[in-house]
Amino acid sequence: MAQKPNIYIIATGGTIAGQADSASATVGYRAGELTVEQLMASVPGLDKLANLSGEQLCNIDSKDMQEDIWLQLARHVVKEAARNNVDGIVITHGTDTMEETAWFLQLALQTEKPVVLTGAMRPATAISADGPMNLWQAVRVAADPGAQGRGVLVVMNGQIDAAEKVTKASANTLQAFRSIGSGPAGVIVNEKIFWQNYSVAQTECGNTCSDSEPTGNVKHAFSATKLYFPTENLTRLPKVRIIYGYVGGDDALFVKAALQDGAKGLVYAACGNGSVPEKLASVLQEAVVSGVPVVIATRCSGGIVVLPKEMTEKNGFIAGGSLNPQKAKILLQLTLTKTNEVKAIQAFFH
Ligand code: SIN
Repeated sequence: MAQKPNIYIIATGGTIAGQADSASATVGYRAGELTVEQLMASVPGLDKLANLSGEQLCNIDSKDMQEDIWLQLARHVVKEAARNNVDGIVITHGTDTMEETAWFLQLALQTEKPVVLTGAMRPATAISADGPMNLWQAVRVAADPGAQGRGVLVVMNGQIDAAEKVTKASANTLQAFRSIGSGPAGVIVNEKIFWQNYSVAQTECGNTCSDSEPTGNVKHAFSATKLYFPTENLTRLPKVRIIYGYVGGDDALFVKAALQDGAKGLVYAACGNGSVPEKLASVLQEAVVSGVPVVIATRCSGGIVVLPKEMTEKNGFIAGGSLNPQKAKILLQLTLTKTNEVKAIQAFFH
């Protein structure tokens, strides 16, 4: 009989570990109550998929996720991924900020081994709670040789998404996650995994994918096997603030407050393809001149910010590309650990 893979589960909290007073409650429950042992025990047949071990890193609602917990999480993943007897890692996490944690890990890790985040939209006490199936499918993906080298993945509701592309697109429904512009990296049906897109740069269609039936070839920007941003020796990430664009939001109040508060970089969530209101443009440019890089992202849910030359060459703004504002912020933070030179930062965003 083939040996079962060894999967390490790092639990951080969220609705998957949440409990409510009523079985029909899907809001107003308490996230982050069940332990990693309780989660593992709650999924029938999980132990048939893999040998399981795990740890409780924290037990929080992911709205309270902190960057220092990210740094700790990255260290734990690096340590476990380096062990010969660990084949893959699953991280249970609240869905609200799951895309941010996934993207941070994508940039901060260097491993071929699958790293899979999962959570739930309904608390563990709900009728038809989705957590157990999501955890089962996450372990299934983490245990699959075909998931190797694909970078950090999110598995929710039968769908596999790459960290770079995925976003939480619904506040309530079970099908909450989408990869806008590319579609999911794969889907899971029963025990079978159908890979549809390749999740990371330099990953070619290969025969190593067990149960994999690739139908596309979307290349993602960051490779799983290259370490872009070492975080091992960091105690914190540089402070970067997001300024949200909207009608009437051109009075520079929040830009000034962010700078006074010591922001080392800013992300402007523009209304469309990176256009910045006139009054704000001058304040943002002053920030650039004073050595605080400004990335222009978009509040639109899809598309790619491409700035006119005037905005990049004259104003010194950095185009955020296809990253949403919260992911552009993370890339800017990590880039700032290496450089605050505008051209070098732009190169990472390219
Ligand atoms: C959370 O993000 O921790 C709460 C919401 C959820 O997990 O769906």
